[in-house]
Amino acid sequence: MSTVTVPLGERSYDVVVGAGARHELARLVAATVPGARLAAVVTQSAIGVEVDPGVPVVRCEVADGEGAKSLTTVEDLCRRFAEAGLSRGDVVVAVGGGVVTDLAGFAAATYHRGVAYVNVATSLLAQVDAAVGGKTGVNLPEGKNLVGAFWQPAAVVCDTDVLVTLPEREWRSGRGEMAKYAFLGHAVAEGEVPEPLELLGLALDEQVARCVAVKAAVVAADEREGGRRAVLNYGHTLAHALEAVGFEDRGGRSGGLRHGEAVAVGLVFAAELAHRLGRVDARRVEEHRQVVVAFGLPTTLPGGVEPANLVELMRRDKKAHHDLTFVLDGPRGVELVHGVGPDAVLATLEAMERTS
Ligand code: GLY
Repeated sequence: MSTVTVPLGERSYDVVVGAGARHELARLVAATVPGARLAAVVTQSAIGVEVDPGVPVVRCEVADGEGAKSLTTVEDLCRRFAEAGLSRGDVVVAVGGGVVTDLAGFAAATYHRGVAYVNVATSLLAQVDAAVGGKTGVNLPEGKNLVGAFWQPAAVVCDTDVLVTLPEREWRSGRGEMAKYAFLGHAVAEGEVPEPLELLGLALDEQVARCVAVKAAVVAADEREGGRRAVLNYGHTLAHALEAVGFEDRGGRSGGLRHGEAVAVGLVFAAELAHRLGRVDARRVEEHRQVVVAFGLPTTLPGGVEPANLVELMRRDKKAHHDLTFVLDGPRGVELVHGVGPDAVLATLEAMERTS
């Protein structure tokens, strides 16, 4: 078992990682929310992970899927909290993946103008990403995560035992994010930056802890997403475009691409683009390929996608501020680069290998 601290002054908190970490929940609640007399456990019926927060529990189930991340669900949750008598000194415990931690975190941020919450992350994606960092929120019909709050958890639990039963698609999504962290080691290490391939040699709980440590360092440097946090979007600009194509072209050639797979292709693309722009050498591009392959993820563009269409979608990416903005590797490590020329982007996409 290991503990990674997210150092945010009075909002600092611990992320406990390892096999059986969920059994630390009662200790963490007692230490971080000492006045709690009741815990609202927010989860989904399919999660099936039992937890003991050490105080009486009111269980609040939410529906599966991204569709549940709505203001209606937040209202339902807050009404359940009120009916159960959850007070300002009590605690919300989110047990689930990113949908649950985003929803429960946002309900906690707003109920009584803010109550404490603890995340028990049950998917690999949530353990290495969604459960840590304090961004909470829900979707509107107009777009994803349009309503939310920065509200840091009091503690996070990443129990690797509960990952054993994850479906393969969930593993693939989490592994895509892990591959991303392999290239963000400079965020934590000052002198000796770990080699990307080192991550692969670690046991699963150590891999999760390493990824959490990177995320913690990035969040500590930029709690409210003023700039530095953008590096967490490494590989995501193309990934969002691929996912948008998959969505519009449901059942089509790019349909069915998992988030992690899209991120994996996005990482290889970002390395190729950085190479074309003279920011990294061919060896570094190869390293990206090796990490992505070692995580069992694809390196090639889906056969049917149109490069020009992808460029247009990337131009519209909400983080791009109307020009082509990418997170790219370079001599200073991975960083945000604005105003990348569309010709270089198009040429890089056209030169990428295709899945037939
Ligand atoms: N909750 C995810 C983040 O803050 O990045």
